[in-house]
Amino acid sequence: MASLAPTLSCTISRLNLLAELSHNHHRTIRFFRTLSSKSRPQKSFYPRRSFKSSFSSANFESTSSICSKALGSNPVFNDNLVVLGIETSCDDTAAAVVRSNGEILSQVVSSQLTIFTPITLWLPSVNQSLIFIILKPERYLPQQGGKAGYYLRGMPKGFMHIEPILRPLLLSTTKGISDLILQDLLARYGGVAPKMAEEAHSQVIDQVVQDALDNANLTEADLSAVAVTIGPGLSLCLRVGVQKARKIAASYQLPIVGVHHMEAHALIARLCERDLQFPFMALLISGGHNLLVLAHDLGHYLQLGTTIDDAIGEAYDKTAKWLGLDLRRSGGAAIEELARRGDAESINLSVPMKQHKDCNFSYAGLKTQVRLAIESKNIDAGIPFSSASIEEQGLRADIAASFQRVAVLHLEERCERAIQWALEIEPSIKHLVVSGGVASNQYVRARLHEVVAKNSLQLVCPPPSLCTDNGVMIAWTGIENFRLGRFDPPPPAIEPEDCQVDLRPRWPLGEEYGRGRSVARSMRTARIHPSLTSLTQASRH
Ligand code: KG4
Ligand code: ZN
Repeated sequence: MASLAPTLSCTISRLNLLAELSHNHHRTIRFFRTLSSKSRPQKSFYPRRSFKSSFSSANFESTSSICSKALGSNPVFNDNLVVLGIETSCDDTAAAVVRSNGEILSQVVSSQLTIFTPITLWLPSVNQSLIFIILKPERYLPQQGGKAGYYLRGMPKGFMHIEPILRPLLLSTTKGISDLILQDLLARYGGVAPKMAEEAHSQVIDQVVQDALDNANLTEADLSAVAVTIGPGLSLCLRVGVQKARKIAASYQLPIVGVHHMEAHALIARLCERDLQFPFMALLISGGHNLLVLAHDLGHYLQLGTTIDDAIGEAYDKTAKWLGLDLRRSGGAAIEELARRGDAESINLSVPMKQHKDCNFSYAGLKTQVRLAIESKNIDAGIPFSSASIEEQGLRADIAASFQRVAVLHLEERCERAIQWALEIEPSIKHLVVSGGVASNQYVRARLHEVVAKNSLQLVCPPPSLCTDNGVMIAWTGIENFRLGRFDPPPPAIEPEDCQVDLRPRWPLGEEYGRGRSVARSMRTARIHPSLTSLTQASRH
């Protein structure tokens, strides 16, 4: 098993480079770096709110109030580490600085929806209508006053620089662009195109990290380690974060922790809720994942269920797009808001996978049901919601509410069964963690609260700003792993340009539970990395 772990000399492979140091890790930590408590004034616990306009700051206050419960007698909060976390696995560029006592010193998220401003422009010279993407905000690109690229209509693949001669024209055109056109373009072309996402991460990563350090009143020299997402996610995007992390780690001789994105979604709950001890259950619901796991221990997860096709967040996003909603926040948030105005019983949709008595999920069929319902009502996604008639707005709200009711019913049914399974395996379980972007939804939380209460468990939901992708969860997971000696030593000061970094785009979190194996699932095994759990187990032997 040990041979499964990568052995490249310049990769991040925290699970095999250093033996487990759980008994004497304090000495090891000091060996690398200790933050002198005298060197910096103690920060107040409350995270700073000096967010720039492009950063998501939603529900920041609730972050501080909920997480303040973390400060207490739990032994895991008693060392003095300061870790920078970097997250670039999908479409948000995020960084945060977190102290091992649970203090969030800073949190910065730059969302691509706020960076991209797409516009259409007819170019007679090439006889083509092009979609232009302006990268904002200008403060990140002061030398150009914004940067433009283009891709051909319907082909959001490459991202190219616009010829300088067109730039003034392009920039002046964007000034007059109306919100409606913007919404329409986002509805039609929004989404994560890997090459564009990579470009966007590269544009902002330095500034996002710098802001995270500045807001924390620290410099790189004050850090104990750097944690970074190494998978799962889009390789091109992961690479941007990993290279940034390695650069800092090499320059300041800092150890580096490679983080599993989904483990981070689960573990952030331990920063927020100090009573949350292993074992616990976790439902992780985001744009690309729908996971039900039993968390035995750090790095040790049993997968009770996963999706056989799409994740719930993807279904929310597509439904929002087809209903012509404003996607600038997120499709999920837009549906949640609209659903409050609709009748959830009005459209007949069936709950997926009723006949499969397991804990797996499927949202592709529900997506199709919603699309057909939209088509049958002659709703044109090309007409933005705000321009639709009052009557049609009501209809769209009914569809949003009906979709949400059934999508969440599917979660409820699978959680009910998973709780039974998990309690048979680990009767001491007391908590169900619900995390990932979709967990910021209040309706989802309320419904799942009912499910856990019926089973005498407690629901733990991080505040919304820590449910969606963020740097805090990466820093925190870095801290938890670092304490157990699961980190890599600093990279060499000079790394070759073509240094192969360890990226794990397809990286399962846990081993599949026998009863949870889905007959319906056609598991594509090619290029799947050994699970985090199998690597953790292998490193112990
Ligand atoms: O965890 P996350 O930020 O990124 C991934 O790892 O995918 O999750 C993003 C997903 C998107 O599909 C987004 O629409 C969904 O979370 N989401 C929501 C809400 N806020 C974000 N879904 C439902 N209700 C919300 N309030
Ligand atoms: Zn995520």
